[in-house]
Amino acid sequence: MRNLTLATLTALVARCAATWPHPHPPKDLPPVTSEALQALISLDQLESGAQQLQSIADAAGGNRVFGSKGHNDTVYFLYDTLLATGYYDVELQEFIELFSGGTASLSINGEVQDANIFTYDSSGSASASLVAVDNLGYEVADYSTEVSGNVALISRGECPFALKAANAATAGAAGAIIYNNVPGPNIAGTFTEPGDYAPAVSVTQEDGEALLAQLEAGTPVTVELEVNAVLENRTTFNVIAETKGGDHENVIALGAHTDSVEKGPGINDDGSGTIGILTVALALTKFAVTNAVRFGFWTAEEFGLKGSEHYVSTINQTAGEITKIRAYLNFDMIASPNYAYFIYDGDGSSFNLTGPPGSDAIEADFQAFYVSVGENYSATAFDGRSDYGPFLENNIPSGGLFTGAEDIKTAEEVEQFGGTADEPYDSNYHQAGDTIANLAWDAFLLNTKAIANSIALYATDLSKIPPVTSTTPAKRAWYPSRELTASGPRKARTALAEKRSVSRKRHTGCKKGHAVAI
Ligand SMILES: *[C@@H]1O[C@H](CO)[C@@H](O)[C@H](O)[C@H]1NC(C)=O
Ligand SMILES: *[C@@H]1O[C@H](CO)[C@@H](O)[C@H](O)[C@H]1NC(C)=O
Ligand SMILES: *[C@@H]1O[C@H](CO)[C@@H](O)[C@H](O)[C@H]1NC(C)=O
Ligand SMILES: *[C@@H]1O[C@H](CO)[C@@H](O)[C@H](O)[C@H]1NC(C)=O
Ligand SMILES: *[C@@H]1O[C@H](CO)[C@@H](O)[C@H](O)[C@H]1NC(C)=O
Ligand SMILES: [Zn+2]
Repeated sequence: MRNLTLATLTALVARCAATWPHPHPPKDLPPVTSEALQALISLDQLESGAQQLQSIADAAGGNRVFGSKGHNDTVYFLYDTLLATGYYDVELQEFIELFSGGTASLSINGEVQDANIFTYDSSGSASASLVAVDNLGYEVADYSTEVSGNVALISRGECPFALKAANAATAGAAGAIIYNNVPGPNIAGTFTEPGDYAPAVSVTQEDGEALLAQLEAGTPVTVELEVNAVLENRTTFNVIAETKGGDHENVIALGAHTDSVEKGPGINDDGSGTIGILTVALALTKFAVTNAVRFGFWTAEEFGLKGSEHYVSTINQTAGEITKIRAYLNFDMIASPNYAYFIYDGDGSSFNLTGPPGSDAIEADFQAFYVSVGENYSATAFDGRSDYGPFLENNIPSGGLFTGAEDIKTAEEVEQFGGTADEPYDSNYHQAGDTIANLAWDAFLLNTKAIANSIALYATDLSKIPPVTSTTPAKRAWYPSRELTASGPRKARTALAEKRSVSRKRHTGCKKGHAVAI
């Protein structure tokens, strides 16, 4: 792929800004149909697209985190590919976003141990004794005076990580180790925003409980801990491509995020969604559409939906631009290695989080697709934890597909979808192992065809989806971020009751005045 210089890029941005939007409907193309569009989706294209992203990551130190070379090259690849079709008006939407990253290290009694940094962590180092913190560390009173100058050992649960790390700082801790409260790999948690935190690292439940047992047995534990946090403003880009043809007053939008986490190349999360919608975009160029189709390739999703939030915030509400988006479809992880076919629960029948009117029809159309190919499907909570969140906030009917992240596949789901019970849907979620070898190609192909089916339907006929009349959404339960947070893993939770109790605890169990958002 062509390596754009800054000057070329600036020229491109200027050119497309000047010509956007610029409808030149291509002539003599046949009207799109689901069957014809699906027939143009092939495994070869998905493989070469995924390989493109893998090569970009490999050439950039192994990741595609926003603002990095790996992410910039991903964005330029998408921009160039879409522009070259001549079928789309393509925009590189530039903005500045706060980046947080860095490294952490930990040794216990001189032995190096696996430890993760938190997003928005504070830098610092400590060489001191380990002191267990009572309860879950959400009140300063839980921190004994012994914590001062030492390293606090705190369990995950009930309250934001940030509150615990802030309390540790208040108690004078030189550092903090926060251990998981559920089994599984070491988490990559977030503090949500910069603050006054003790330098903190996360360890697994197993490692944390072993440390606690030593302290309870009266064995002294010496800790060497170091956090080198990077916090900087970075320039980054969304890529937005809209068909030149079709009715621009009635737009069907869809999106996927282009960034990975810093730990790995992110080929399933969300290379799969990125390449899935790109492949549909390229196939669509062979057809005429009735309604315009707008593809959003969002940056910085892993930092809290920043790209999609930025895009939605820049749409001119005065001119009614936002309500021209008749529906938004999101695709974040569609080829998980131990997959299930999850559909966002737009009608609220499974999770009682109903989307704006029309979301039910979007869900039903995805269901009908899986029925038509003889596959099972299940529901995933429509809780705003991916890039559809900002669209839901504006009352835009939404939907999408998901094949599962770090949550554990049940025996019942193995009957429905095959795969392995008691293992995560994606055991490489947010890890270095999320490479091209981490994809379930059958799910990738089928889900890309499912995207093609919905796009062909809505590019032709939006009558099932009511127009957006108000951008004020109906009141609904709301989760502000999809990132790993205080109480447990995100996504595909099956028990509504459990979710409600978690949400209640967040509000009553945390000390007031420490309003650190989860
Ligand atoms: C990515 O692109 C931005 C905007 O042009 C630039 O400021 C930044 O230096 C680039 N990052 C790398 C690592 O090249
Ligand atoms: C990022 O930019 C904002 C807005 O200009 C500024 O307030 C903030 O201090 C910057 N942060 C860093 C880490 O440079
Ligand atoms: C938004 O749209 C209104 C009405 O068309 C127009 O007057 C205004 O200049 C637009 N604002 C921006 C920021 O483009
Ligand atoms: C679903 O949510 C609504 C509104 O939040 C609430 O009134 C209703 O009791 C909930 N239903 C169930 C079964 O939890
Ligand atoms: C769908 O799920 C049922 C169990 O609920 C199972 O018997 C059937 O084989 C599954 N179908 C497919 C195509 O996997
Ligand atoms: Zn993702």
